Parts: sequence; structure tokens; C-alpha cells
Amino acid sequence: MTPADATVPSPLATRIVDLAAISRNIGRLAARTGKEVMVVVKADAFGHGWLEVAKTALDSGAAWLGVATVDEALRLREAGIDAPVLCWLADPWTRLADAVAAQVTISCANTETLNAVAAAARNAGTSALVHLELDTGMSRGGAPVADWDALCGAAATAESEGLLSVTGVWSHLALAADPDPLSTETQRLAFESGVAKARELGLAPAQLHLANSAAALAHDTTWFDVVRCGASVYGIETVRGVSHGLEPAMRVVSRVTQLREVAAGTGVSYNHAYVTDRTTTLVLVPVGYGDGIPRDLSHGGEVVIAGKRHPIVGAISMDQLVVDVGETAVSLGDEVVLLGRPDLGEPDAQEWADVTGTIAHEILTGLGGRMARSHIGATYIGAATL
Ligand SMILES: Cc1ncc(COP(=O)(O)O)c(C=O)c1O
Repeated sequence: MTPADATVPSPLATRIVDLAAISRNIGRLAARTGKEVMVVVKADAFGHGWLEVAKTALDSGAAWLGVATVDEALRLREAGIDAPVLCWLADPWTRLADAVAAQVTISCANTETLNAVAAAARNAGTSALVHLELDTGMSRGGAPVADWDALCGAAATAESEGLLSVTGVWSHLALAADPDPLSTETQRLAFESGVAKARELGLAPAQLHLANSAAALAHDTTWFDVVRCGASVYGIETVRGVSHGLEPAMRVVSRVTQLREVAAGTGVSYNHAYVTDRTTTLVLVPVGYGDGIPRDLSHGGEVVIAGKRHPIVGAISMDQLVVDVGETAVSLGDEVVLLGRPDLGEPDAQEWADVTGTIAHEILTGLGGRMARSHIGATYIGAATL
């Protein structure tokens, strides 16, 4: 590098997101369920890039985008996306007036939020789009069954005043990936009785939705009108032990930045938790937990260099990790594959999750820090300008 090059960004690791893989995964979900697909693009589309994924989703036939926060929903609108967007974590202290004006579909799980949405619509002289969320057994979000009638009644009143329209009713599953469908069936029955009650109280929701990825793949009784899919869109197989042919969309690569040959008995990294048992070659890779590489991968994590798997050894630091490549011929600058395609023998987010005792969702949303991100395989109009 010459001094002039020093102003050019020189990322030490890159997340390469294959939008064509995302598009094919959406196609698989639509073909399997025959229902409208809501692609969940919250948390920066699980780290894959909210705008690129949103555009890919709509270009691939998704009918809906799903987000958690009002700000995520409004960002989509500000980017010119006018497709249906559901936002499920609105509360009276969020930008409800903007969300109502932007025709974001706002999920309401209590009368306080519903009344605030109705007030925003009244002030703007418009009508808001609302989906009501019922808690059918997850005990996280959603109206408890005991509050459901009051919520539906308040919604019916506001609807009769022209302040809002309840276009959907939904709930979320706690155990959809569980091979024992009992809990899912129990939630489905509770959902159906909640929908019946909503209809009895005068509402006419056209979009019913319950299924997340695992249910969209494994429980056809939960499909209703729309399936809300996150993990599967990004290629995570959430039904353990079963492959549905999903393709991991994110590849994480770095490079060999230092090499050293060391003798047997050499302690490696902080606290020398790893000590070499033979003469070997250690490679430095310039990423660490500051970039979202879980520190727990220090025990059992592997990368691919020169077409072979090698163990991460010693404590992963904030910016660096060490790999023991043994006798494999490795050169400075060689590519290091941190996450890739399991069908090619490369680790994926699920493997990291298994090693570190978490779920692949957390791995993917945690990656970032100083890593660059690039997108390949875009098909939508305007892709080149993103
Ligand atoms: C309310 C809701 N629906 C759907 C999803 C998508 O779930 P999955 O990633 O398992 O498909 C999520 C995601 O985390 C969610 O919070």
C-alpha cells in the first residue's frame, strides 16, 4: 500500500450477501405454503441489509414486509417502498402520526396503543391500518386472552367512526420448531377462537397470520393467509434435523494477515488457554468479538483456509483471532472463510450457534462492527445504484 492508498477504505472482513439466494429461499417458502409471504426485515434484515433485502423480497413476489419498530417501517417508506408493511412494536410514544400517514399497518396489542393510533388518525383526518395481536400462549407480546374482547370492542368502535380499519389478526408461536406439535396446535386453536370472537364483535380481518419460518415449513395448519418468515429467508434451517433446501445468504470472509511457525508448548493469545502440542503454523485473522465473532468460538470454532477446515485456537480478542493451520501451506493474504456454505464443508451460522449455545438468528444479527458488506445477485430495478 502506498501512502496515497491509505485513504481508501480497507476492510479486514466482508459480509457478502447473495440476494439471489434470498430470492430463491422466498420462492421456496411461497411454493411450499401457497400463501402470501411476509419477509421479516427487522434488525437490518437480520444483518443482511434492510433496503436490499426489502427490494429483493418484493421483486421475488413477497406480499408483505415485517418489521419490529416504527422507525424501521418509516425508513422503508422514506426509501420509496409503498408495499404493505406491518410493524409490531408500536406503542403510544413512537411516531404513530407518521406511521398512520405513511399507511404502515400498525399492530396493536392493547387499548392504549389502539386509542393512540385512532387519535393520530383523527388528527390527520385519515383512517389507520391495524392488525390486532393476540397472545395464544407465548406470553411475550400480544393481548392476553382476558383482554381480547375489550381490545376487539375498542377496535370495532374506532372502526365504526372511520378512524381505522382492522385488516388483520395475528399471533406468534412459541415452539414451532418442536417436533411435538401439541403446543403449536394448542396455540392454533386459541388463535381460531380469538378470530371468531373478533368477528362476533363486528371485525372482519382479511389477513390472519400465525406461522413463522419453522411453522411455514413444518405445520400446514398454521398457514392461514400470510406466513411471516425471517430465518428461512436468510437460509437458516429452523426445523432441526430437516433440510428444506434453503441456502445461507451470507458469506463472511477475511484474510490471513500474519503467519508464524511455533514450537510445541507455545501458549496462544490471552491467558494461554491453548498451548500447541506440536510444531505448527499459527495464522492471524483480523476480526474478533468487536465485529460480532462470538468469543465462545474460541472452543470448537473452525474456519476454512486453503480449502480445509482449521480450528480457531486461544481466546478470540476484540479485533483478532488465531487459527492453527498445522502443516497446510498457507500464504499471507489467503482468503479465510468464516461463514459460508455447509454443502461445501464451510461453517454456517447454525454451526456457530451450536458451538456457542445460541441460535443462528443471534449470530447473524450480531455480526457487523468494522466488517464491510457487499451485495451480489440483485435482480430488482435500480440494483446497481444501491
Ligand atoms: C413477530 C415475529 N414474526 C415472525 C418472525 C420471524 O421468525 P423466524 O425468523 O423464525 O421466521 C419474528 C422473528 O423473529 C417475529 O418476531
